[in-house]
Amino acid sequence: MSFDFTPFLRDDLPPAAKPWGGFAEFNFVGGHVNAASVPGPSLVEALAKVMQRDGDRLGYYGLGHGSQGYLPLREYIAQMLAERTGMPTDPGEILITTGSLQGMDLVNDALLQPGDTVILEAVNYGGQLSRLRKLGVNYVGIEVDEDGMKMDALEDVLAAQKAAGAMAKYIYTIPTVQNPSATVMSLPRRQKMLDLAREYGIPIFEDDCYAELLWEGERPQTIRSLDDQGQVIYCGTFSKTIAPSLRTGYLVADWSVLSRLMPLKTDGGCGALEQMALAEYCPDNYANLVAGIRQILKGKCEAMAEALGEQFGAAAEFSMPKGGLYIWVTLPAEVDTDRLTKIAGEQGVAINPGSEWAADADYGRRRLRVCFGHPSKQEIRDGIARLAEICHAEFGVPLRGANVER
Ligand SMILES: Cc1ncc(COP(=O)(O)O)c(C=O)c1O
Repeated sequence: MSFDFTPFLRDDLPPAAKPWGGFAEFNFVGGHVNAASVPGPSLVEALAKVMQRDGDRLGYYGLGHGSQGYLPLREYIAQMLAERTGMPTDPGEILITTGSLQGMDLVNDALLQPGDTVILEAVNYGGQLSRLRKLGVNYVGIEVDEDGMKMDALEDVLAAQKAAGAMAKYIYTIPTVQNPSATVMSLPRRQKMLDLAREYGIPIFEDDCYAELLWEGERPQTIRSLDDQGQVIYCGTFSKTIAPSLRTGYLVADWSVLSRLMPLKTDGGCGALEQMALAEYCPDNYANLVAGIRQILKGKCEAMAEALGEQFGAAAEFSMPKGGLYIWVTLPAEVDTDRLTKIAGEQGVAINPGSEWAADADYGRRRLRVCFGHPSKQEIRDGIARLAEICHAEFGVPLRGANVER
């Protein structure tokens, strides 16, 4: 008989975790990348080199570079952001975090209290929505079109909040390859968002998680690069380009705010080996690696779009992503994707239900997100075929039969 902790546990703990049961046969959830693209041997080589040179730094907390993270990695990130996004950055304005999720936690911890409000894109990253709910924070979703968050709608909400004397604490945005809509905010809208933020005196939290995964063209200028007053806190990550298990992300902010976030990071510093390996590997290899990954992901995205078209026909509406890892799909109103997720999960197809990816869960109810980063093209074809069968059996969608055009 093992000791019973139940009476000792906090009343408000979340439900118990389940033991890991492995991935679904067809895994269309999460932000996994194309695992074969992870440069394992090159990272080992890089790590061996840097350990020879700098290994004794492991003898110090924070690698002897203070609590912001390994200095050569911050120097690389600063230079990369300047070159690739037009955002001159000082390594002293960067805090290395355990993935961008830790960055989000720090920002939320510093800015939010129960009852506060955050403004965000109406369809959104489930990990941020669940965090805000857990903190007792309200969120107001702003509609998104192909150019990203709609600025007239944002302006209306800001004006209404001001009139009510209840301004939101910040605007959260994923401007480039938004999750899950995959939209890219236009430059005029980026500027307009900053102008509105100025007018209403509210910070912006810019999450640039997917910005490297645009199929075509240059990476857009960040909102923070347009800002000369330190009103934008920025976060990035190596999760979607190199590997999510590295758990290496970063926050960029003016020192006045970074210095307030840092004391909330009480973990004694992020892991040394991943920071050192990245600092050594990235300067010569990052750009090439990412260029290759984009092409692979684009191919998988096309395979996913084709499979959805073939299997669901007109029943599956979606815009073709310009980058990223996901397609956001709208199905006919009779489909409840919460139920579909459950039944499909039991039959080996894992999908994300739209209700968890939308500020208004009801809006998400007929929508779903499918990730094409991890499965092979064949798995995409087979898995979407199985999903369509399951959806047809449960909801009569897509229509099936000799005379039905699919
Ligand atoms: C928009 C967004 N932000 C942050 C994260 C978390 O990423 P990380 O692995 O860097 O913690 C994700 C992961 O899917 C995401 O989609």
